[in-house]
Amino acid sequence: MSILTVENISIRFGGLVAVRDLSLSVEPGEIVGLIGPNGAGKTTAFNMISGYYHPDEGRVIFGGKDVPKRLPDQICKLGLARTFQVVKPFPHLTVFENVVVGAYNRTNNKKVAGRKAQEVIDFLGMSDMSQQLAGSLPVASRKRLEIAKALATGPKMILLDEAMAGLRPAETDQIIELVRQVSNEGIAMLLVEHVMRVIMSLAHRIVVLHHGEVIAQGEPNAVVRDPAVIDAYLGGEAVDAASH
Ligand SMILES: Nc1ncnc2c1ncn2[C@@H]1O[C@H](COP(=O)(O)OP(=O)(O)OP(=O)(O)O)[C@@H](O)[C@H]1O
Ligand SMILES: [Mg+2]
Repeated sequence: MSILTVENISIRFGGLVAVRDLSLSVEPGEIVGLIGPNGAGKTTAFNMISGYYHPDEGRVIFGGKDVPKRLPDQICKLGLARTFQVVKPFPHLTVFENVVVGAYNRTNNKKVAGRKAQEVIDFLGMSDMSQQLAGSLPVASRKRLEIAKALATGPKMILLDEAMAGLRPAETDQIIELVRQVSNEGIAMLLVEHVMRVIMSLAHRIVVLHHGEVIAQGEPNAVVRDPAVIDAYLGGEAVDAASH
């Protein structure tokens, strides 16, 4: 059974239909890439899937249940975690404390939460910075902290919104490897990312949005060769992406 099912969701902001009739599903452990030009509706789709916005039409079903509106703690308890395109750590808390906050999703016990946080920090290779204030971290570490916070909540699925934007190639490679390991643990992922190398290395399937509508979806190598996708989004990058 799919862990996530999105059925014909649409949302309007004033006169603008930001997402129109989007349907998709994600299986346990599967990585689905959501791509498209700036303003295509990717973050808006994430906001509906994670319950931050309520769709005007359609529904979002996670783990067999309707995703409730604006109840982030309940949504997190269902096992759905997200990262933010604009990273949101608690800047005056340490890395460790930030991750502990996530870990309290599954326990009220300080020791258990601390152990879980430490495990996630070690897994993400952040042990040497765990006592630093989150606000003092360079961008690559902040991105990593976003993933750590999500992982600490014990999710069945993580929505990653441009988790690798602004990173250097070597830093990107490290996160790609981490995401792959997370996926191998059976955690599903929906990945919004402009860096096609990331999408092509990780996604089992791609959905392409353009002006809020799906213009293509399917197997990555087929999607990046689709003329509509090249036209709307990839341009010259298509050749590179396809030959990856
Ligand atoms: N809260 C809002 N109120 C009004 N318009 C909005 C709101 N949120 C998003 N939009 C509009 O909806 C459209 C889709 O925006 P969205 O942020 O989802 O795009 P995106 O695909 O994530 O783009 P990017 O790649 O630049 O992050 C844009 O035209 C945007 O201006
Ligand atoms: Mg966005």
